[in-house]
Amino acid sequence: MNQDIKNELISLKEKISLHDKLYHHDDQPLISDYEYDQICSRYDELINLYPDLGFEVRDNVGFKPSEKFKKVKHKKPMLSLNNGFSNQHIEDFINRIKKFLNINNEEIEFICEPKIDGLSISLIYEKGNLTSAITRGDGEFGELVTNNILTIRDIPKKITKGPDFVEIRGEIFMFKDDFLTLNKYRDKNNFKIFANPRNATAGSVRQKDPKITAERKLNFFAYTLGEISQDFKIIDQYNLLLLLSNWGFKTPKHIKIINNLNQIKDYYKYMINIRDNLNYEIDGLVYKVNSFNLQDRLGYMSRAPRWAIAHKLPSKGVETILNDINLQVGRTGAITPVGRVKKVNIGGVFVSNVTLHNEDEIKRKDIRIGDTVIIERAGDVIPQITGVVMEKRSKSNISYKISEFCPSCGSPTFKPKNEAVRRCLNSVNCKAQLIEKLIHFCSKSAFNIDGLGEKQIKLFYKLNLIKNFSDIFQLEKNKNIINSLEGFGKVSTNNLINSIDKSREISFDKFLYSLGIRRIGESNAKLLAEHYKDFENLKSQFLKAANKNTNSYDNLVNIDQIGESIAEDLINFFKNKEILDDIELLLTHIKIESYFKKKINSLFTDRKVVITGSFKDLSRDEAKEKLNLMGAQVVSQVSNNTDFIIVGDKPGKKLKSAQEKGIKIINEIEFVSIIKNL
Ligand code: IVH
Repeated sequence: MNQDIKNELISLKEKISLHDKLYHHDDQPLISDYEYDQICSRYDELINLYPDLGFEVRDNVGFKPSEKFKKVKHKKPMLSLNNGFSNQHIEDFINRIKKFLNINNEEIEFICEPKIDGLSISLIYEKGNLTSAITRGDGEFGELVTNNILTIRDIPKKITKGPDFVEIRGEIFMFKDDFLTLNKYRDKNNFKIFANPRNATAGSVRQKDPKITAERKLNFFAYTLGEISQDFKIIDQYNLLLLLSNWGFKTPKHIKIINNLNQIKDYYKYMINIRDNLNYEIDGLVYKVNSFNLQDRLGYMSRAPRWAIAHKLPSKGVETILNDINLQVGRTGAITPVGRVKKVNIGGVFVSNVTLHNEDEIKRKDIRIGDTVIIERAGDVIPQITGVVMEKRSKSNISYKISEFCPSCGSPTFKPKNEAVRRCLNSVNCKAQLIEKLIHFCSKSAFNIDGLGEKQIKLFYKLNLIKNFSDIFQLEKNKNIINSLEGFGKVSTNNLINSIDKSREISFDKFLYSLGIRRIGESNAKLLAEHYKDFENLKSQFLKAANKNTNSYDNLVNIDQIGESIAEDLINFFKNKEILDDIELLLTHIKIESYFKKKINSLFTDRKVVITGSFKDLSRDEAKEKLNLMGAQVVSQVSNNTDFIIVGDKPGKKLKSAQEKGIKIINEIEFVSIIKNL
């Protein structure tokens, strides 16, 4: 079971990075934003459900800011929410929280809010005046859309009794009836109609003319704060909503404080019942730990808070016809079947591709080309075939049999017994894999080479100009050939050479990410960079780690979130001589900056710390996370190099060994008082 999930996750990850590249780098998306979201949500759902599989949380939040607007860095990142699709997911979420906080019997108070399907925005008030408004963008940088936002009547332009500086965050949305009126008008006047109220809202705010924004009837619900100049001593989310409404903001309706899963289930049923009667779209419910003190302790995992979850709402299935099944080969050889269906509208969005996950899934559901199938977006999010309408099956629809040969290089593929994903193992010569690797290497989050997108890479590959990573940095040698190609004048060739030159310096974590190693996305690359500091060290440690009886192997598997299977992928990657040779050559053309991460200075900074025993008021995960934040290196074994040992209840052998070595011992009470002051 876990192997199936793992394989699905691997394939989803590959798709996400491919479509990120197509959308952000090439501006040539192959799938709609909606379909992209569906893939991401399935990925998020699975990593939420199976945190132990060691897959990283995605780094990207939302869309990269558009170049139409000034790009502004958020003072505090605007985060995303993890999704839950069933009561079980919510139960797991509550249990995870309790485990993290080390709470067994007490109940935790949650606040439930509807998840408004709109456009999130951060509003900055200085000395009471609304001075700027920034969209979420990618969570780190957003678009400055102040002039447009100033036209929205629902948003107070001034707040009284507020602090000197405050960021109010929430959702801009359009009422369903205003959306229908707008679309009727647009249809009549031959303008493209909007697919749903959210698109209409985004389209109204993310365009350059404030007059257009002013004409659209937009509304705003405030639900959280960003940066604030003064501590307001608000104890929980409930009181924050009261404060926001005192300042003149509308806040989400139908909120409820609950204490346990049964009450959440009741709230969910209630909201499902009233959903259609609401005049605005909601795409889920948000459950947040109410207490700010507990929220602070729970903190964040990558780009989503540990203290909140979005419970997606269900949707009904829609019938369509499966026209074809195509196989896609990813960067790491994973072969993914994709269903091409007759275009169909689900809840305002057109769907023509569906995820078929893998061949076992096709077999399990007995899906055949030509079948009438039901497509569902579970929780309004995932497009997948939930079943076949057997009564409509024609006798000529034969069982689907996946080819056992790679659709790109024709070499035999391999599907390990307990795995669901078939792979092309020809990592050295399979054209599809190599091209995908090169595309990934040049993509925005990797080397970020402007002008070297899918189209150009495919062309240069065909012309033998780029066959591996190092060729990219020697492209200048072939300047004359490129110059003579259709679509490449002198200017664009020079621009390309310049952007390649500009990318010769790269941070260590981005470099690792660029290599396209299986399961090494941006977060894992950061973890590795942080741990190994520079490439030479990493390489020599990985070569040693091929022997599992070494400290190097122990160190690798002990890195937070890495674990044995990712370690295996890394070790295998670095075993490949051809890849290593290419990397060696590549290193002669580029400069890798060592990794530097901002840390809170403390007595643990750059110290080796061991944790032993169990704690009363916090979990080991929380202790470890706080230590990492303070710049400590948390290690599993006591050695002569260990600086501190944090001791909980029933400590065991490690304490004894630390005492013998004269290592500084810190007990739970001391440790908690240190982290309280963080
Ligand atoms: S809380 C740390 N509450 O959903 C994240 N978000 O998928 C704080 N959203 O980016 C968000 N209604 O744009 C929160 N009642 C609500 C919401 C809500 C809609 C949006 C928001 C967020 C996205 C995450």
